Parts: sequence; C-alpha cells; structure tokens
Amino acid sequence: MSQNYYDFDDYLDEPLLLRSSSSSTSPSKFKHSKKYLVLFAVMLTIFLLQMSLFKKSYQTEVPKFVENPKFLGAKNIAECVREYNKIIDFNTPENVDKVYPHHIKVLGALGDSITAGALSMIDDTRHVEFSFISGNEPIEKQISIYSILQHLRPENSTLLNYNFAQPGATSEDLMRQATYLASKIETRKQDWKIITIFIGTNDVGNLGLGFAPPIGSEKFRKNIENCLDYIEQMLPNTIVMLIGLPKPQLFLEARSLWIENKRARSKSSQKALDDLLESYQKVLYDLQEKYSKDRKKFSVVVQPFITEYNIIFTDDKGKPSKIFYSDDIFHPSKLGHSIMAKHLWINIFEPVGKKTTNATLGDFSHSIQCISKDNSLIRTPNNSFNK
Ligand SMILES: *[C@@H]1O[C@H](CO)[C@@H](O)[C@H](O)[C@H]1NC(C)=O
Ligand SMILES: *[C@@H]1O[C@H](CO)[C@@H](O)[C@H](O)[C@H]1NC(C)=O
Ligand SMILES: *[C@@H]1O[C@H](CO)[C@@H](O)[C@H](O)[C@H]1NC(C)=O
Repeated sequence: MSQNYYDFDDYLDEPLLLRSSSSSTSPSKFKHSKKYLVLFAVMLTIFLLQMSLFKKSYQTEVPKFVENPKFLGAKNIAECVREYNKIIDFNTPENVDKVYPHHIKVLGALGDSITAGALSMIDDTRHVEFSFISGNEPIEKQISIYSILQHLRPENSTLLNYNFAQPGATSEDLMRQATYLASKIETRKQDWKIITIFIGTNDVGNLGLGFAPPIGSEKFRKNIENCLDYIEQMLPNTIVMLIGLPKPQLFLEARSLWIENKRARSKSSQKALDDLLESYQKVLYDLQEKYSKDRKKFSVVVQPFITEYNIIFTDDKGKPSKIFYSDDIFHPSKLGHSIMAKHLWINIFEPVGKKTTNATLGDFSHSIQCISKDNSLIRTPNNSFNK
C-alpha cells in the first residue's frame, strides 16, 4: 500500500525479476556434507546466541509468517496439454480476433501491489514469481496465467514474461510502468502479446486504505486511456486485459469483515467508495468499447470474474476464510494468487457480455479448465458474437 517501498530500479533485473524461492538440492551438494555440517553447527550456535541476546528486537523486526497449509495446482495439466496440442497451428494470425493461447509470445503485467504479488510470502517485497499473472512456480502447486501458457506453447517457441506492477501504484503510475515494459519488448512488435492491467485499488485513496484524496473517475479514465494509446502505438499486436475491479469486500474491507464482521466505514463514506468504484468500472467498460472499433492489431477486453464478488473470500464450505489472504488480510496469499489465476483463465475464453462476474473462488479442485478447438479462442469484443 505505501508509496515507494521499492526503488523502481530493481525492476530492471533481467529477465523476470524473480527472487528464487526454493533451491533444489542437487546430488553434488552432498559430497561435502561433513564440512557443511560443521559449518552449519557453528552458524546455528551463532544464530541461537544472537537470538537470545536480541530476542526482542528480532521478534519485532521480522514479520511472522505461517505458510498456508493448502495449495492449489493444476494437476490435470498433462491432459490439457494433450488436448490442446491437437489444435496447434504454426501460422501467425494477422487479426487480433483470431489469436489463440499458443500464439502469445509476450506476457506483460502492470498494476499495484496485488499484481506485484506483494506480501504473498514472508516479506512485503514484490513477489512477481507468485503473482496470478506472472507466477512461475511448478504448475502442479501454483497456477498463473504465465505457467499455463508456458505449458500450452509449442516447444520451439518462447514466451517472455514481464511484471512491472508496483506496490502503491495508482492509475497515475501506469504510463511509467508501460514505458518500462515497452523498453524491454520494443523489438517484439510483430509478436502477439497479452498485457494485463489491474489498477484502481489505490486510486480510491482515503476512501480505501490510503491517505491521498481519491482520484476522480475522469482522471482515472484519462490515465488509463493515455496508457492504452501508448501501448497501441508502441506495442501493436496486443490484447490488453483490464481486470474488472472487485467490490471492497474482497480486498479493501476483508480485514474489518474478518475481525469485526462489518464493513470498514460509516454509511456515507461507504457509499462514496462504492459509487467511485462503480464509476471506475464504467470507465473500464467504456474503454473496452472504444478500443474495439476498427482495429486489427489491438484490442481491449475487461475480465470481470471478481467484479460481483461482494463478500469476504469464502471457502468451499461456504465459510469466510483467511487462506486467500496474506497476514494483513488484504493482499492475496500465494494460494490466493493461484485461486485468482484459475478463475481468470476461464474468463479469458468466455465471450464478452457472457463472462463470469462472480467466480466461485472457493472451488479448490486442483484442475484448470482444459481448452480445445471449440473454446480456445481468446475472446475480444469483436469476436464474441456469431460464434
Ligand atoms: C516450430 O516447428 C514447426 C513444426 O515443425 C514449424 O512449422 C515452425 O516454423 C517452427 N517455428 C519456429 C519458430 O522455429
Ligand atoms: C470484426 O470481425 C469481423 C469478422 O469476425 C471482421 O470482418 C470485422 O472487420 C471486424 N470489425 C472490426 C471493427 O475490427
Ligand atoms: C457472489 O457469490 C457469493 C457466494 O460465492 C454470494 O454470497 C454473493 O451474494 C454473490 N454476489 C452477487 C452480487 O450475487
């Protein structure tokens, strides 16, 4: 939430801006195990000594984190790959309305802390490696749009993955993020791209969890429009997915719903927040409409899978649950990201106007929707009819 946690420059790490999460143990590591054992014992002693000396400060400085006991993976991925392989063609489509998942060569993400994967693990830094868009964990344990596409792509093609979302970002910051993205992929003009934008949670300012005055819907529109114009010009052959804004109950107010079982604000400021979010939502749909006209290389589509989810996250037994959230009961946990990815994936292939708006997030079955000939076209406003 807070501004400028992270210097923008650390975005420039190549190629994926990933912090490695788990180190695999290779057999060679055991060769020197005795030496390591001694070293380990010494380090442990030093560590314990420090712990006892500085117990208090240690406890206050390191955030407590309990790993979620559950995970959500796509255990049916092999089946999906088999099914999808039957339809792979090696032609590059000329028209944005004829793009299938295996045509995508670049995946980009712009947005705020949610898209950045912040707080999804032990610390509050970005964790783009767990983000519902760009995550790159093994897909049997964690789902993301990137990891699904990675499995579906032809063996001899590549998929670039850039996440420039930034904690604290508002629509004001989108242009800067888009500029970074363009600087990375400006040579990939010919390749088909999906760029996801999820912004607005911080735009509500002090009507939400921030301190700044809210950004009005006209300004919100202008900011996103500028960004879309820029992307269209700099990065043609792109489908932009605008993630429809969730009701405050899912993220912004989850904490108060969990702790006090009520929404966070007084009646009047509650209404102001709801109205503002609704006006943002209208902007997103207006922009979808605007950019769906007379274009063959660019399209904008709203993915509304959580827009009507007007309660705190509720599990498969119908009970409100914290497992979707990180410790702050606001940002999604690693598991929460996996849940979002699973349901966003379904949205992508639903025709505009018939998309799910209140996804059953509590559906924990370890499978993703497999796609085949009939349901694998990436839906744009202009290919959603007569199909
Ligand atoms: C990948 O393989 C297919 C089938 O062998 C071929 O038609 C296509 O040109 C190849 N693509 C690239 C980028 O090498
Ligand atoms: C919409 O799609 C149809 C065919 O699917 C195409 O003929 C038409 O040109 C497209 N319209 C625009 C505005 O791109
Ligand atoms: C969305 O689904 C939840 C249950 O998952 C339900 O409680 C809620 O009322 C639904 N929202 C709307 C707007 O229908």
